[in-house]
Amino acid sequence: MIRIAIDGPSSAGKSTVAKQIARDLSIIYVDTGAMYRAIGLYVLRQNLDTKDTAQVCGCLPNIRIATSYDPQAGQRIFLNDEDVSEQIRSPQASMAASDVSAIPQVRAFLLSLQQDMAKKQSLIMDGRDIGTRVLPQATLKVFLTASAEERARRRFLELQQKGLPDTYEEVLAELKKRDDQDMHRAVDPLRPAADARMLDSTSLTFEEVVDTLVKWAKEASA
Ligand code: DC
Repeated sequence: MIRIAIDGPSSAGKSTVAKQIARDLSIIYVDTGAMYRAIGLYVLRQNLDTKDTAQVCGCLPNIRIATSYDPQAGQRIFLNDEDVSEQIRSPQASMAASDVSAIPQVRAFLLSLQQDMAKKQSLIMDGRDIGTRVLPQATLKVFLTASAEERARRRFLELQQKGLPDTYEEVLAELKKRDDQDMHRAVDPLRPAADARMLDSTSLTFEEVVDTLVKWAKEASA
């Protein structure tokens, strides 16, 4: 069994790279950010405050999160049986995800689900605390970064393709705010595990990043 943990700030390319590695190594890909996003979306839909611990915790008993995975389509995420894979991608859902992810009860709620998935099968999982909390025994831990400007540029292009009106400056500001929140929360903040390998993708192509990680994965599982 091989378990690969990829952590890093938002829009560092974790999910695109992880999806490709999953295909190359014939293992499943788990996007843990999508789970936090689904909880954030639920709280937003209830018109509640995503930063209010009592309000968010009150929602948890009514939330069921499930995922499915297909090598071509990637991961689908279900919130109480509704496929919300597209709805969770809005900038509002991104911020809501970051807000609810700072609440310890939300992290505990998702931790067992994530760890259970890794008990059964080889996988590559991406997020913020995979190497430090979810899979401390991972075969390979990678911390993938890129400059804030480069990450904002990539995210801006993605949003433009979807026809969303956000400007580059708005995207950069939101990304910095979310990183700051994710790095400075009290519980399991975004940081590299002590034994993580660092990769800065600012001036690397997608293929170079994938090739490096596949090489590291083969070395680690040899
Ligand atoms: O990876 P993403 O951008 O889809 O994640 C959305 C938010 O969820 C992110 O801002 C912080 C939170 N998150 C987390 O706290 N821990 C994880 N393992 C994954 C995501």
